[in-house]
Amino acid sequence: MSTTPGIVVVGSVNADLVVTLERHPRPGETVLGRTMTVLPGGKGANQAVAAARLGAGVVLVGAVGTDAYADTALSALTEAGVDLGALRRIGGSTGIAVVEVSDDGENTIVVLPGANAHMTPELVAASAAVIGGAAVVVVQGELPAGATEAAVRAASGRVIVNLAPVGPVDPEALLRADPLVVNEHEGALVLAQLGGGEASGHRAVVEALLGCGFASVVMTLGAAGALVSDGGPVLAVAAPRVDPVDTTGAGDAFVGALAARLADGDPLADAVRFAVQVGSYAVRHAGAQPSYPTLDDGLPALPADVPRHDL
Ligand code: RIB
Repeated sequence: MSTTPGIVVVGSVNADLVVTLERHPRPGETVLGRTMTVLPGGKGANQAVAAARLGAGVVLVGAVGTDAYADTALSALTEAGVDLGALRRIGGSTGIAVVEVSDDGENTIVVLPGANAHMTPELVAASAAVIGGAAVVVVQGELPAGATEAAVRAASGRVIVNLAPVGPVDPEALLRADPLVVNEHEGALVLAQLGGGEASGHRAVVEALLGCGFASVVMTLGAAGALVSDGGPVLAVAAPRVDPVDTTGAGDAFVGALAARLADGDPLADAVRFAVQVGSYAVRHAGAQPSYPTLDDGLPALPADVPRHDL
């Protein structure tokens, strides 16, 4: 076990069954796929691998099952040097995600939580000391809400909440996020969950979320980049232009990179600029974890910061 982790990720670990196909079927339709590969995935594991590849010391608090998928799910975490001392093996199946990737790089994902569903607040609290010692704690929405809330309660450092997918989380725990990281759809759902009403336009949603009490908010916008604010004006960070091969896990690459830079003490806007580059790198490669860069990989250059009023 690491003694002083920069980052603790409390989150899901999956094996991704990735099917490539020309286009996604409509409801009721059957289409033929091309290939099927089993890759390591899960939002928590993806974020941990992304941060570790970028040089951060990372501990993962999570669970896998006792089936054959567990080895695949843990393969890249081990290779990236993520500390798995707080990982549980729970009898039964590992989390599985069925990921369909079409020729234009877009995906659909169905997750069977498996062992992730057995992460109780008590299991998370058993790692309270390591969570409490981290500079940055990262949580997402793929563990039961009680586990996520226990992680936030145990944290004494900066907490990144990437509420994907959005589910009900105790508002007090949610508002510890600094930043809350959401995409446009998740942002609107979190706003509704907090009783913040509706806002029209991405920038307005970010401002409304700040109005709910978040110290900072980052909204990821895919090919359009990201919006970021820590209470001041909302800054738009444009993404490099890239040809997407597979968008799976690009948001997780973003969060892992953000965590790595925040753990190093970067200001939030600088960390977001770096995270946009890392997310853009990831969409140019297939799979989630296999697509993440190391510090030796050249990242696509950002366009110059220009004020964007259309977001
Ligand atoms: O964000 C991408 C991830 O979502 C996949 O790796 C899959 O496991 C699901 O958790």
